[in-house]
Amino acid sequence: LHWTQLNMCASRSCHVSWALIMCYLMMGPKHCLASEKQNSCHVLDGQADCSHLSLGEVPLDLPRNIFSLDVSHNRLVRISPASVELYPGLIHLDASYNSISKLDKGVCQTLPLLQTLNLKHNQVHLLKKEDLRHCGNLTWLNMASNRLKLQGETFSALQSLKFLDVSKNQLQSAKLGSEPQLPRLVKLNLGFNDFTVLKRDDFSFLNQSSFLQILNLSSVSLQTFEAGCFKPISGLRTLILDESKMGTLVISKLCSVLSGTAIDVLSLKKMNLITLTNTTFTELKKTNLTFLDLSGNDMRKIEDGSFQWLSRLQTLIMSDNNLKRLTKNTFRGLKSLKKLQLTKALVKHHNSPNPIIEDFSFQPLSALESLILKNTSAQEITENTFTGLTSLTELDMSWSSYASLKIITNKTLISLADSPVRKLNLIGTSLTQIHNGSFSFLRNLTVLLLDHNFIKQNLTGREFEGLDNIQEIYMSYNYQLVNLSSRSFVNVPSLRVLTLGKSLKAEALNQDPSPFRFLTNLNILDLSNNNIANIKENMLEGLMNLKVLKLQHNNLARLWKSANLGGPVFFLKHTPNLINLQLDSNGFDEIPLDALRGLTNLTELSLSNNLLNSLKDAVFDDLTSLRFFRLQKNLITTVRPEVFKIPMSNLTVLVMDKNPFDCTCESILWFTTWLNKTNTTSVPGLKDEYMCNTPLAYFNRSIMDFSPLSCKDMTPFQALFILSSTAVISLIVTALLVRFHGWRIQFYWIILINRTLGYSDATVEEGREFEYDAYVIHSEPDTSWVERRLVPLENERCRFCLEDRDSIIGMSQLESIVDNMKKSRKILFVVTESLLKDPWCRRFKVYQALHQVIEASRDSVVLVFLQDVHDYRLSRSLFLRRGMLRSCCVLDWPVHKERIPAFHQKLLIALGMTNRLQE
Ligand SMILES: *[C@@H]1O[C@H](CO)[C@@H](O)[C@H](O)[C@H]1NC(C)=O
Ligand SMILES: *[C@@H]1O[C@H](CO)[C@@H](O)[C@H](O)[C@H]1NC(C)=O
Ligand SMILES: *[C@@H]1O[C@H](CO)[C@@H](O)[C@H](O)[C@H]1NC(C)=O
Ligand SMILES: *[C@@H]1O[C@H](CO)[C@@H](O)[C@H](O)[C@H]1NC(C)=O
Ligand SMILES: *[C@@H]1O[C@H](CO)[C@@H](O)[C@H](O)[C@H]1NC(C)=O
Ligand SMILES: *[C@@H]1O[C@H](CO)[C@@H](O)[C@H](O)[C@H]1NC(C)=O
Ligand SMILES: *[C@@H]1O[C@H](CO)[C@@H](O)[C@H](O)[C@H]1NC(C)=O
Repeated sequence: LHWTQLNMCASRSCHVSWALIMCYLMMGPKHCLASEKQNSCHVLDGQADCSHLSLGEVPLDLPRNIFSLDVSHNRLVRISPASVELYPGLIHLDASYNSISKLDKGVCQTLPLLQTLNLKHNQVHLLKKEDLRHCGNLTWLNMASNRLKLQGETFSALQSLKFLDVSKNQLQSAKLGSEPQLPRLVKLNLGFNDFTVLKRDDFSFLNQSSFLQILNLSSVSLQTFEAGCFKPISGLRTLILDESKMGTLVISKLCSVLSGTAIDVLSLKKMNLITLTNTTFTELKKTNLTFLDLSGNDMRKIEDGSFQWLSRLQTLIMSDNNLKRLTKNTFRGLKSLKKLQLTKALVKHHNSPNPIIEDFSFQPLSALESLILKNTSAQEITENTFTGLTSLTELDMSWSSYASLKIITNKTLISLADSPVRKLNLIGTSLTQIHNGSFSFLRNLTVLLLDHNFIKQNLTGREFEGLDNIQEIYMSYNYQLVNLSSRSFVNVPSLRVLTLGKSLKAEALNQDPSPFRFLTNLNILDLSNNNIANIKENMLEGLMNLKVLKLQHNNLARLWKSANLGGPVFFLKHTPNLINLQLDSNGFDEIPLDALRGLTNLTELSLSNNLLNSLKDAVFDDLTSLRFFRLQKNLITTVRPEVFKIPMSNLTVLVMDKNPFDCTCESILWFTTWLNKTNTTSVPGLKDEYMCNTPLAYFNRSIMDFSPLSCKDMTPFQALFILSSTAVISLIVTALLVRFHGWRIQFYWIILINRTLGYSDATVEEGREFEYDAYVIHSEPDTSWVERRLVPLENERCRFCLEDRDSIIGMSQLESIVDNMKKSRKILFVVTESLLKDPWCRRFKVYQALHQVIEASRDSVVLVFLQDVHDYRLSRSLFLRRGMLRSCCVLDWPVHKERIPAFHQKLLIALGMTNRLQE
């Protein structure tokens, strides 16, 4: 014996080396080394994973304190007690998918704590009581897919076992022993075995297994049930007979042996039960069955009254069948049924007519709460289809084709008028139109699902009439043919969730006032994928409770452009409580400074797939709660702290890959430093997806390759450079200013000094005597106004100098002007359009006047506007701005006559003569 074993081992290792050599020859050394390297177990938290390693033995070099060992998918032929002895703490041992032919009795002996043992898919043949003698602590034993031959009371030592799987063993009998054993068993799997008969005493070994609840006999071709065969299993609750080909007759027999047992759940899937007759389940009337699964049976016909025996049934599953007709007697007697699952139970085939759901078919189901008609097809829904479902709270007709659902009118669902339906699912029902009041009788409806249809209409608001309790309307994926109006949601102010993704026409949101203004309770609004280019600033006005806003895949870039006509549109200013905002794929290339103001609760912001490049400082500064920040696939080159420090301070996840980063000190240094330091933020793909685009030296390298050291040396030079260039530029600017605007600077300066020090000409000029109080500059056409309105004000204390009247005889005109201005305390401009156009005034007089003002260091210009003249034109022609003067020196000629005395008063104040007047 030793010889052969040695021999075997030798030939094995020879095998392995051969394989290695072949591998070297064919694939090169790299691959073979890799496969060799794998030959080590993965140990983590006391659990060793040694699966898929082609092991011939349990490894001997694992940590001694492991409690779980997985040696599945190897080439073990036995588990030697000597090898597992090294791991006395083992609780779980998985040796499935090996070639073990015998369970060594020493295994349990050396592993007293062992609780679960998996020997599925091995070669175990003879199994004796002796082999399991020490396995008293096992709770879970899987012996499926072996070649078991049981001898004697094999399992009698397993006092703690709760789960036993002996499926796929070609067992010829369900009888695993003669004496009562397995007292704690809960679940027994006997499926895929070869017996066809259940004898009266087959389960007598389970006589004392009072905890046994679940028995699996799937794929056992049972033909005969001897009377009372399930009696020994007093606690049996769940019986699984899926895929056991029995036929209707055998099922009736099965039911009779289940009669009077505690059976609760019966699974009869894929048994090819083509028809149910009104006697098939007769014998189940003496049970309390609550759950019956008949799915996948290719069932065509259910005779009237087939279920009349199952008055306690609560759940009936009949998915994936081929029913042709439901009648008002099909479900007769199911008076406790709460859930009826008919997914794909009625299907139209191309060469057969549509199945029929007769009127009142569901009437017997007065307790039914959930009716699932998903993926079904039937001729039509009438005014009585759902009559009698007085407890129904959920109706799911998604992905079904009913001609009557294409256009929903106030008749279509009228049969639900007495049902307290809370959730109605009409996803994918080819719906094209909803008429007014179609849901008006569903007063308890809270959730309405209308996604994936072809709804094409202007929502006027009357469609949702009567939905007093509605909270969620889902209308996404409707092929962008829905149009809105200002009153679309007037009848559903209780709405919390509204999705309109990929459903709206591009112009649907052009409404003013906004269609959403009634929805003050709205939490979630989805307007994504609509190609919307235009929304109004007040679109979200009043939506104080909005938490989630989805606007991705639209075309909103223009709204945030500074060049937008009328300025950027701040459409988020009404929703300060937003938590999640999605703005991906909108073509945004700028974000105005105030676009995200006040969103202090925002935790999730997505801006990926836009064209964002340089972002304004502080644009994200209010986003102090941000946790998830997505900016991938933009054109971001620099990541500066002025923009990103605050939003990135508390992040959980940052996604910013696929941007053309500029890997220079000023652009990226702060970011790479942040990335290196952060340990709370996860940045997926940091190694491979964050690449430098510029400069050339870093092109296509990870930004994490950027060396921060290169920046440190730069700092002093940088400062020097900035300093010197600033100096040069300011010199140039000063020189230019002095050259071209010297007098003006001087003027401003003097006025500033005068104002700050509080001089007024009245005091400064105390000692100096003026001949005139004001020199009046006006244009030719305004002469008459001056004569009519100004000259009469003159008296012994107030004199104006008028050019025509007071020019000094014998002097040239120019000299006379200069002279007279010097003799005047103030210079008064009568501003009209014609003054601005008068070349003589503009050139010489004005220049002279200002020169005079500057030379005399006086704040002494008074403007009297006879017409409204724009400040810009004023500064172009007269080099004056209103703002340069005290407000009391700028006067407007009043339109109303009664204000003329007030004007005079003001004029005198402006001329600095108030004191005298008040005396
Ligand atoms: C079962 O485990 C306990 C420790 O939990 C041990 O004392 C006992 O000997 C074990 N029983 C068997 C039959 O190995
Ligand atoms: C079963 O149906 C047949 C006719 O198809 C009828 O005569 C018989 O009374 C029905 N049995 C029960 C129990 O409903
Ligand atoms: C069914 O339940 C009722 C009470 O709910 C009980 O009296 C009856 O014994 C149960 N029947 C069976 C067969 O367990
Ligand atoms: C259904 O709509 C029609 C008009 O389309 C109207 O005449 C009728 O009164 C409505 N019926 C109910 C029950 O609202
Ligand atoms: C709707 O729900 C209320 C309780 O919220 C209930 O009183 C009322 O009867 C329900 N309506 C219908 C038609 O069942
Ligand atoms: C929707 O309203 C517009 C005008 O607001 C109209 O031109 C259009 O025909 C309407 N469409 C439908 C389907 O009623
Ligand atoms: C933000 O959330 C807090 C608490 O969750 C709340 O009190 C506050 O009103 C919310 N809104 C703003 C703008 O802070």
